[in-house]
Amino acid sequence: MKFSNFASRFNDSSGIVQLMDDLGNAMNNDSDLLMLGGGNPSHIPIIQEHIRKSFLNLLDDPVLFSNAIGNYESPQGNRIFIETIVKMLNKEYDWGIKYENVALTVGSQSGFFFLFNMFGGKYADGTHKKILLPITPEYIGYRDVGLVSDLFYSYKPKIEKLDNNFFKYRIDFEALEIRKNTAAICVSRPTNPTGNVLTDEEMSKLFSIAEQNQIPLIIDNAYGEPFPGIIFTKTSPFWNKNTIFCMSLSKVGMPGVRTGIIVADSPVIKSIRNMNAAINLSTPNFGPMIANELIESGDLLALSKAEIKPFYQRKMEHAISVIRKNFSNIDYYIHVPEGAIFLWLWLPNLNVSSDDLYERLKSRGTLVISGSHFFPGLDDNWEHKDECLRITYSMDKDVVEKGIEIIAEEIRAINASS
Ligand SMILES: Cc1ncc(COP(=O)(O)O)c(C=O)c1O
Repeated sequence: MKFSNFASRFNDSSGIVQLMDDLGNAMNNDSDLLMLGGGNPSHIPIIQEHIRKSFLNLLDDPVLFSNAIGNYESPQGNRIFIETIVKMLNKEYDWGIKYENVALTVGSQSGFFFLFNMFGGKYADGTHKKILLPITPEYIGYRDVGLVSDLFYSYKPKIEKLDNNFFKYRIDFEALEIRKNTAAICVSRPTNPTGNVLTDEEMSKLFSIAEQNQIPLIIDNAYGEPFPGIIFTKTSPFWNKNTIFCMSLSKVGMPGVRTGIIVADSPVIKSIRNMNAAINLSTPNFGPMIANELIESGDLLALSKAEIKPFYQRKMEHAISVIRKNFSNIDYYIHVPEGAIFLWLWLPNLNVSSDDLYERLKSRGTLVISGSHFFPGLDDNWEHKDECLRITYSMDKDVVEKGIEIIAEEIRAINASS
C-alpha cells in the first residue's frame, strides 16, 4: 500500500516507535523482558492508593461521574482543573497567571507536537523556522514530531569529568547561535535522558537570550517541581510571558490518563485550544478530574516531596551501587543523576556502537535505549553519540539488578572478543 509523505514521516525505524513498542510489549504482556528502556513511572503503592481514592470519589459522585463520562470536555481543558492549577502555581511561585494562561493536552507529548509545529516550519513570508535545542542529549520524543523535516538545530554539550566516574554536561554558551530563523528555544529540565538539571544560572542565561531575541523559551518540566518533583537539586521554577512551561500528570504515576498541562501567554494557549479542537475535538477529563482533588487538597504536592522524590532518590542510589558493583574493569562514566528516572551511561572505549550493544542486550532479554537517539538536530559525526546508553531505574529492584548485571557481562564479552 502506498502512503503519503505525512505517513512516511512516522516510520518503524523511529526511536520513539521502537521505544514505545518495546515498552508496551514489556508492560502489557506477561513478559520476562528486563525493561530498563522505557520511561514508565514506578507504581508507588501510597501514590496509587491516593489516586484510587480520588477515582472512587469521582465514581461515587453521580454528577461528577456523569459529566466525566458523558460530556465532551472543552478544547482548552477541564475548567475546574485549570482553575486549580492556576491557583496552585500562583500560591507556590507567585507567577500571576490566569485561566487564559493554561491549556491541557492529550499527554504533554501531543503538547510538544503542537508547540514545535506552531513555532517551527514554514511561515507566510516563505521562511523556514527552527527550534533550537541548546544542549544535547535531549528527549527522544522531540525527534519525530515535526510536520516538516529539519525542525531542530542543536549543540553538543561541554563535558565536565567529575570524581567517582561521574560527569556532567553543560550548555556551551560560546557556541550557541541564535539565527534569523530561530523560532523558539526548548530544554527538558530535569533532562530525559541524562538526569541533568540545568542550573538556575544556565536557565537565567537562556531566559535572557530568548527575551533579547523575542522568541519563547519552552521548558519541559515533565519530572520537575511542583509535581512530580523528581529533582534532587535545588531550583527555582520561573515563568513569564515569554516562557512556555510544560507539565504532565504522567510521572506522578498517571501516564494512563494522558494529561499534559501548558502554561503560556494567552495567544499560545488559544492556538493550543484551536489545535485540540481540530485534532481531538476535546481534551481528556478523567485525569484532570482525579488529579483535581489531589492538587486542591495540597496532597499531591506534599506527596511529591515526602514520597515520590525520596522514592526515586533511593532507586537512583541503588542503581548506582549496582553499577559500581558490576562494572569493575569497565571504562564507564555516569552522568550525575540530578533528577528524572534514568541513568545515562557513557562507555568511551566500547568497541561496538551503542546501537549494536542495544541489539545484543535485547537478544538477551534486556531492554535499554541506545544513546544515539537522543541527539535531535545534531548533524555531527560526534563519536560520543554512539557511546552512551540510557537505563531506566523505575522498575523493580531485581529487574534493575539483573539488567545491569547483563549489561556488564555483555560489555565484558565485547571487550574480550576485540
Ligand atoms: C522529558 C519528557 N517530556 C515529555 C514526555 C511526554 O510525557 P507525556 O506525554 O506522558 O505527558 C516525556 C515522557 O517520557 C518526557 O520524558
